[in-house]
Amino acid sequence: MSKGTITCRIPVRLGDRSYPIVIGQRTLLGLPEALDFVAPSSRIAVVTSPSLYRLYGEALVEALKEAGFQAWWAQTPDGEEHKTLESAARLYDQFVEHRMERRSLVIALGGGVIGDLAGFVAATYMRGVPFLQVPTTLIAQVDSSVGGKVAVDHPRGKNLIGAFYQPRLVWIDVATLLSLPEREYRAGIAEVLRYGVIASPELFQLLEERMEVVLRRDLNVLAQIVAKSCAIKARIVEEDETESGVRATLNYGHTFAHAIEAATGYQRFRHGEAVAIGMVCAAAMALQRGLVSQEFAERQRRILEAAGLPTACPEEVEPHALLEAMRLDKKVSAGKIRFIVPREVGRVEIRDDFTDSEVIAAIRATYR
Ligand code: NAD
Ligand code: GLY
Repeated sequence: MSKGTITCRIPVRLGDRSYPIVIGQRTLLGLPEALDFVAPSSRIAVVTSPSLYRLYGEALVEALKEAGFQAWWAQTPDGEEHKTLESAARLYDQFVEHRMERRSLVIALGGGVIGDLAGFVAATYMRGVPFLQVPTTLIAQVDSSVGGKVAVDHPRGKNLIGAFYQPRLVWIDVATLLSLPEREYRAGIAEVLRYGVIASPELFQLLEERMEVVLRRDLNVLAQIVAKSCAIKARIVEEDETESGVRATLNYGHTFAHAIEAATGYQRFRHGEAVAIGMVCAAAMALQRGLVSQEFAERQRRILEAAGLPTACPEEVEPHALLEAMRLDKKVSAGKIRFIVPREVGRVEIRDDFTDSEVIAAIRATYR
């Protein structure tokens, strides 16, 4: 069986919590060879859903067994509605049954839901066991697998129960994206463009000029955009691991997005789609204040449209309802809503001085 080609290694330097992000093409089954830091014959739980087990998990468990590890499938349902303490409890039960120990390893194989859930369980089982991220969605490969935010949802809010708990390794095989449903894939492009806006004119331009190739999922281009995105995230996390400063810029478009998702019951939009609309809102708000050019706003909108992403707030959602949803966001501090606004391609700033009427005008500006 081919072990694929590793195309890039990006270090995340966090002292004794440092780890590499290893990016490659068709490298999934090369993972056992990279586990030289795990004791021979250790127990390894591969946490994944039934559908991902069929696609990738079974072959990975077999490869781990062949390499001498006591690998097994820790089964969990997929979907945001299952990113809960109940799902975590069912994983703890399976870990106990399989006699997982302090030095056993947890592998999260899947999208952001499984990565966040398995990471949360790894952070808390026996006060913390080592874990790896093997992300299989574009959002997970460029964002959620890196940086150690692990969480489950509470009925009153997303990601309300969680921790910062870094993985030991992030192992990315971009070829796993080939089986991703089209809508999930396109949703991830919004998160990639977000990196372009906050930190990389080069990535912004790549999406602007090569969207057709990106949509075709050319593996070389995928490896390139995932590597550029991870490098930006790694740099930001190194500077501000627990989000007391610059890490907040990763939330560009997200204040609006979380409100849109909440106001539409988390059913209508994929997260990345809501982020796309949120980025248009943030640019409109910055434009109204003269903080960014019309040209920027138009270029950003054109890229999102080329990716087939939505760029308008649904008109039936009352702007005041969105404003109220924003006030409930866990990132609100002392009652002030914090926004990340663009200044130019590759540069954003954090501001909390926008008035309610400016926010509402920005939402209305996206209507067609
Ligand atoms: P997801 O995990 O729900 O996955 C989307 C769907 O794609 C699922 O049905 C899954 O089974 C399927 N899937 C996954 N990989 C596949 C593949 N290779 N082939 C075919 N199907 C595949 O969605 P997501 O967008 O990856 O993650 C969203 C979650 O990530 C949210 O819970 C969000 O809060 C979290 N998140 C966390 C962070 C962080 O920093 N921790 C950052 C961003 C998002
Ligand atoms: N996804 C935002 C962060 O990791 O901070």
